[in-house]
Order: sequence, then C-alpha cells, then structure tokens
Amino acid sequence: MLSAQTIALVKATVPVLQEHGEAITRHFYPLMFREHPEVKAFFNEAHQAGGAQPRALAGAVLAYAAHIDRLDEIAGALPRIIHKHVALGIQPEHYPIVGKCLLQAIREVLGAAATDEIIAAWAEAYQALAEVLIGAEAQLYQANAEQPGGWRGERAMRIARKEAESEVITSFYLEPVDGGALPAFQPGQYLTLVLTIDGQPTRRNYSLSDAPGRPWLRISVKREDGGKVSNWLHDQAQVGDTLQALAPCGDFVLDAQAPAERPLVLVTGGVGITPAMSMLEAAAPSGRPIRFIHAARHGGWHAFAQRVQALAAQHPNVQPFFLYDEPRPQDRPDAVGRVDAALLAAQLPADRDVDLYFLGPKPFMQAVHAAGLAAGVAPERLRWEFFGPLEALQAA
Ligand SMILES: Cc1cc2nc3c(=O)[nH]c(=O)nc-3n(C[C@H](O)[C@H](O)[C@H](O)COP(=O)(O)OP(=O)(O)OC[C@H]3O[C@@H](n4cnc5c(N)ncnc54)[C@H](O)[C@@H]3O)c2cc1C
Ligand code: HEM
Repeated sequence: MLSAQTIALVKATVPVLQEHGEAITRHFYPLMFREHPEVKAFFNEAHQAGGAQPRALAGAVLAYAAHIDRLDEIAGALPRIIHKHVALGIQPEHYPIVGKCLLQAIREVLGAAATDEIIAAWAEAYQALAEVLIGAEAQLYQANAEQPGGWRGERAMRIARKEAESEVITSFYLEPVDGGALPAFQPGQYLTLVLTIDGQPTRRNYSLSDAPGRPWLRISVKREDGGKVSNWLHDQAQVGDTLQALAPCGDFVLDAQAPAERPLVLVTGGVGITPAMSMLEAAAPSGRPIRFIHAARHGGWHAFAQRVQALAAQHPNVQPFFLYDEPRPQDRPDAVGRVDAALLAAQLPADRDVDLYFLGPKPFMQAVHAAGLAAGVAPERLRWEFFGPLEALQAA
C-alpha cells in the first residue's frame, strides 16, 4: 500500500513528466544498455530508433503516475505489457535494473527539481507497479507451462517446411524437436524467436498464422528492407535447421464470448494478415459470418490469396475482399486503392454490430480505426495489434 505522501508526490510530478517523459526514457535506454548490457538482447533496436518504444514506456509511466490513486482505471493497459514481457522472457530480476536506471534517468533529466523526496516516492511507486507486473507475469508463465503442450523458456523447433506465400512473405512450419505436443494457443497470438545472428543475441515476435491444433506452429515472415532477422530467416534459415522459440503469448485474440451470429470483420494490410489468417482458419468452420478484407500492394505481394479463396469456397460464411493500391496489369482485385470510411462502411452490416479486428502498417491502422468509428462501430468492438510497440492511433 502506497502512503498518502507517496501518492501526492508522484501525482505532483505528472506535469513535469509530461514535459520530460520521453527525454527521461531516451536517457534511460542508453544508460541501461551501458550499465547492464545483458538486457540489451531483449529490446529491438529499430523500436528504439523510431522512438516508439521510448514513447510506449514514457506513456505507461505517465499513465501510472496520473492514475496512482485509481489504478483500476488503467488496469486495461496491463495485459498487453504483461503478454509482451512474458513473450520476450522478462524475469523478476530484470525489474531492479529497470527501476534503478529509470530513477537515475529521472535525476539526470530533472536535475535539481528531482529532490530526494521525489525520487524516494518514485522508487516506492515503481516497486509497487513492478510487483503487480511480476505477479501477473509469474501467473502467465505458469499457465503457459502447465497447459497441455505448453512450455517455459526456450524450446527447440525444427523448420519442417519453408514455403513462399508471396514475393515478400515466407512461411516457416515449426515442429518441436522433442516430438512433444503443441499448445492450443489462441488465434492472434505470437511466439518469440531467440536467435544469435552475427554473434548478436536477438529476439523477435512472430504471429502464428495457422489455426491451433495443427502438428506445427506456423509463422509467416515478411522480408524487411535492411531487417536483420527477417532477411536471415528468408536467406539463411533452411528446412531441417533448429530455432529456439518462447511460448505463444498475446492478448489480441478472438473474443471467446462473442455470439456466433455476430459478424467477424478482419481488416489487414500487408504482413498484418498473419494473425488474421489464424483467426480465419479457426473461425471459418464455426459458421460465423466473416468478412476478410485484405489490402496488399499488388498480386505479387498478396500472401495467402489462394488459401483464403479456398476457405471461402468451402465455407459460404467467409466473404473475402481484396484491394491493391498498386495493381499490376494482370491483377484483378475487388477494388483499387486504400481502405477508407466509404469502403469499410460498404462492407459492414447496417446495424454495425460486428467485431472488427485490424492490423497493418501504422497509417493503414490509423485509417481503419478512424473508418470503423466513422462507420458507427462501437469503440469497444475495435481491436488491434501493433507489430511493434503500442502507438497512438489518433492524433489526440
Ligand atoms: C506482436 C508482433 C507480431 C509480429 N508478427 C509478425 C509476423 O507475423 N510477420 C512478420 O513478418 N513480422 C511480424 N512482426 C514484426 C517482427 O517482430 C520484426 O519486427 C520484423 O520481422 C522485422 O525484424 P528484422 O529483424 O528483420 O528488422 P529489424 O532489424 O528490426 O529492422 C526493422 C527496420 O528498422 C530499420 N532499422 C533497424 N535498426 C535500425 C536503427 N538502429 N536505426 C534506424 N533504423 C533501423 C531496418 O532497416 C528495417 O527497415 C511482429 C511483431 C510483433 C510485435
Ligand atoms: C514497471 C516496469 C515496467 C513497465 C511500466 C514497462 C512497460 C512497458 C511497455 C508500456 C512496453 C510496450 C508494450 C507494447 O509493445 O506496447 C514494454 C515493452 C517492453 N518491456 Fe517493459 N516495462 C517495465 C519493465 C520492464 C523490464 C524490467 C524489462 C526487462 C529488461 C522490460 C523489457 C521490455 C521489453 C524488451 C519490451 C519490448 C521492447 C521492444 O518492443 O523492443 N520491461 N514495457
């Protein structure tokens, strides 16, 4: 229980943090990586460089400070952080490292304004938040390990198949080297690969792109220009090779409580199609109406086109809609252009009573989010994932 004085001191720092929040986390990361290089491999350098990860941490710290006397109001933000931490293998012993460096960064950026009293209040508040996260993460580690086919830590996976899905996306079918069962993950979840490339330890999240219950876990990876892991997977990783994987995690999953008659609308751009493929594979046989809207650059980049068509042919409840923004002469998409309010509205039932899941590049997600709201879909029916740190979808 935090004292009233601690709560007051932490709350009093909110305006200062709002002014310096990102600067603090920008100081924090280089400091932590210098003093504790052992944690560097958990973080994605590209997320640091773009500023999204510092913004996400600054946002979380600020939200926490602002709500310290009514934490239930921000409890909804915690599952994403907890799943991300567990996916990446963050351990309780890492928390004091982050805490020490965060407080040191606050001191450095605020200078004289960071009194001993303020720092002590923050140390206490950080510890309280850390304990909440550590406790919830311990439960998730345990649940992941105890479910049939589940595991904790790294598990060796053999690449059983490697198949191109488009000119830029390739699937990898991973089967456990130990020959054991696989967990019934939830469609939309992702696993983490633990790799060493050019002597550098590194971790990356990849959504599971096939339904649960298959004898493999499939990931489908887009080759990113200049990307370390995706290019290594495309060029170096071969059938028969072994990769280390951490257990599936993620809270961007199909709502198990949703009524079977409520339409499921999956709207994806580019490689954002991967978790939607898992959702589609899992939900198609249920008879639930599914609108599968996918935006790709052109037919050459369009992954899983034939599989989606085959599912639609087999299950009349599945209705695909493909649009390309730079079609080739031979392409025959359902529309040319990008997802906007008019296009989305035309795909939705009149009552807008749907579950709308979306994922793609950031501008795509901003457009779909705005279009969904403009079309009248209730905000709580919109769900999304980011293939990186959480970012703001609205300018506000
Ligand atoms: C939950 C989740 C699920 C995901 N699912 C998938 C999926 O199903 N399929 C998929 O393909 N991807 C997925 N991703 C993305 C994936 O984790 C990787 O981020 C992606 O493969 C790129 O990794 P990389 O190592 O190839 O690129 P990185 O080396 O991380 O580089 C990414 C980009 O940043 C640039 N960059 C790298 N370092 C720097 C730097 N220091 N400064 C400036 N720019 C830099 C690179 O040139 C490149 O353009 C997912 C991510 C998350 C968080
Ligand atoms: C109270 C303490 C902490 C808070 C509030 C916090 C908050 C966050 C937030 C908001 C994110 C972004 C989630 C997203 O992807 O949207 C995140 C991601 C992450 N956190 Fe934490 N975190 C804490 C402790 C730690 C610790 C102790 C570690 C271990 C070193 C850690 C490692 C990471 C990593 C590796 C990521 C993903 C970074 C990436 O995308 O490159 N965090 N955390």
